[in-house]
Amino acid sequence: MKKVLVLYKSKTGFSQRYAEWIAGDLQCDLVAFSEFEMETLSDYGLIIYGAGLYAGQIRGLGKIKRWMKDSPNKTWVVFATGATPTRESYEELIFKTNFRQGEVRPAHFFYLISGINYEKMGVFDRLLMKFFSSMDARKRKAPRSAKQTSIDLTNRDYLTDLLRYVRLKAR
Ligand SMILES: Cc1cc2nc3c(=O)[nH]c(=O)nc-3n(C[C@H](O)[C@H](O)[C@H](O)COP(=O)(O)O)c2cc1C
Repeated sequence: MKKVLVLYKSKTGFSQRYAEWIAGDLQCDLVAFSEFEMETLSDYGLIIYGAGLYAGQIRGLGKIKRWMKDSPNKTWVVFATGATPTRESYEELIFKTNFRQGEVRPAHFFYLISGINYEKMGVFDRLLMKFFSSMDARKRKAPRSAKQTSIDLTNRDYLTDLLRYVRLKAR
């Protein structure tokens, strides 16, 4: 049995929630990226890294890719959380744009629908979101909406494939 670690980076709590659900179901270790001690990496055979999507990029992925490259004997699984409500086509797009051909790639990538939390968002991200939505309104020739409404679309059922995959790989 491979020892499993769930590592996460989370600004507004969505990736943390999914990471906690995963670690709870798998009964494995869970650590926030900011508190992770690199020396302990050698204890694990399978690492699950999860973070939010920001303008199509998986947060913190640069460092994870370097670790993946340096530890090819470990199994790496990556998940990204995002507010885009479509699953399969978006998963493919995010995988292709974040893991270019010829680059190190995880054993599996999963996209998990999460939502938007304006209450926990920093000022800069809130301003960015305002900018994105006004660009979008202009593109659609629709009136600009001043309201920023949070939405929570997280669902434990979205973890079914990931959990099945990790259980198989950890054997
Ligand atoms: C500035 C900004 C950019 C975002 N860009 C995307 C995106 O490209 N695709 C997406 O699906 N969601 C996007 N989101 C939504 C976040 O990915 C989503 O809320 C995510 O779950 C946040 O994870 P975290 O709270 O764990 O950091 C964006 C949110 C913000 C604030």
